[in-house]
Amino acid sequence: MKVSEEIRSLIPYKPGKPIEETKRDYNLTEVVKLASNENPLGPSPKVLGAIQEALPEIHRYPDASCFQLSEKLSGKLGIDKNHIVFGNGSNELIDLVIRVFCEPGSRVLMSDKSFIAYKICAQAARVETKEFAMGNDLKIDASGIAEYFETTNDPKDRVLFIANPNNPTGSYMGNEEILRICEATKGRDNFMLILDEAYNEFVRAPDYPDALELVKKYKHVVNMRTMGKVYGLAGIRIGYMIAHPEHCDYIHRVRNPFNVNSLAQVAALAALDDQDYLQKAQRTNWAGLDYFYNELEGLKLPFIRSEANFVLFDSRRNGGQFTEELLKKGLIVRPMAGYGLPRHIRLSVGLESENQFAMKRIKEVLDILPEESH
Ligand SMILES: Cc1ncc(COP(=O)(O)O)c(C=O)c1O
Repeated sequence: MKVSEEIRSLIPYKPGKPIEETKRDYNLTEVVKLASNENPLGPSPKVLGAIQEALPEIHRYPDASCFQLSEKLSGKLGIDKNHIVFGNGSNELIDLVIRVFCEPGSRVLMSDKSFIAYKICAQAARVETKEFAMGNDLKIDASGIAEYFETTNDPKDRVLFIANPNNPTGSYMGNEEILRICEATKGRDNFMLILDEAYNEFVRAPDYPDALELVKKYKHVVNMRTMGKVYGLAGIRIGYMIAHPEHCDYIHRVRNPFNVNSLAQVAALAALDDQDYLQKAQRTNWAGLDYFYNELEGLKLPFIRSEANFVLFDSRRNGGQFTEELLKKGLIVRPMAGYGLPRHIRLSVGLESENQFAMKRIKEVLDILPEESH
């Protein structure tokens, strides 16, 4: 079979190691996974009830238009339904945006330490990529990106992805920075700015931009969100994008008609109504982050203040070995060598007991691995 160079050289997405696999491989009974930025509360009981109720109907195809869900979200966000497209996780929407709005010869732009799916989806679509380097502060280089667009107008450039807050750093861009990029990129033919806000409900920063207002103001701005994080629906796969109706219409043409399954639709409907769960998830996350900051400060390990549900820290040791030693002790985290950060670890926030378990294990590993000099 002849396969293009882009597909042959594609390095697949590497998910966090599953709990059961870790138990088997390391002969463990207790394993804590803080590697995939999942909601540690487990699903909301209201969501489970809604799924239970919908089960007898799973022999039917789902509603291809996500009618009820669109109505609900439209009311909640105060935006017309024709601005909304649901996807099989926001990952599917990233893929669709590139497939629909790019072609071989066009280019997708992103930060060099950002959500890896942007690069994978671009490569799979035989589309070039350009990465903006982050500085030592591990923040997306907002002024570097703005300057690039203020001084260049290359028709190859089609889509710029900005994860805000950013995964894996947890850093965010404030209103002014995002506005400058919106202004620098507006008025171009065939150009889209994607504000990927997978973690937006976790943000505490007061100057976090209002992406919905930006979508209303700028035709080229698209907002993506997921229900896999704060709403605890990662396993059922549902995300959405808010964009200009013309752009939504093109995505609808290409997407699989039943891309959002019926259980995901009822789960999302119930989740959107469950404010208590959402608030509990936020509180759990913020308490967990503050606990991690405190502990990491005590250990003198540099870290980045996070607006998401994970924290990135510098282990001052070989990150691959660090992760491996933690696995042996039943803690799954993410090493960051693939992002050019060979000593960094990304640690998701768990339940209080899981966070304590994690810090205990981290301290044990700090004692057995030698510190690396810069
Ligand atoms: C920045 C960012 N965007 C999108 C996604 C994809 O989320 P989903 O589970 O909805 O596909 C993630 C998942 O980790 C993410 O970190």
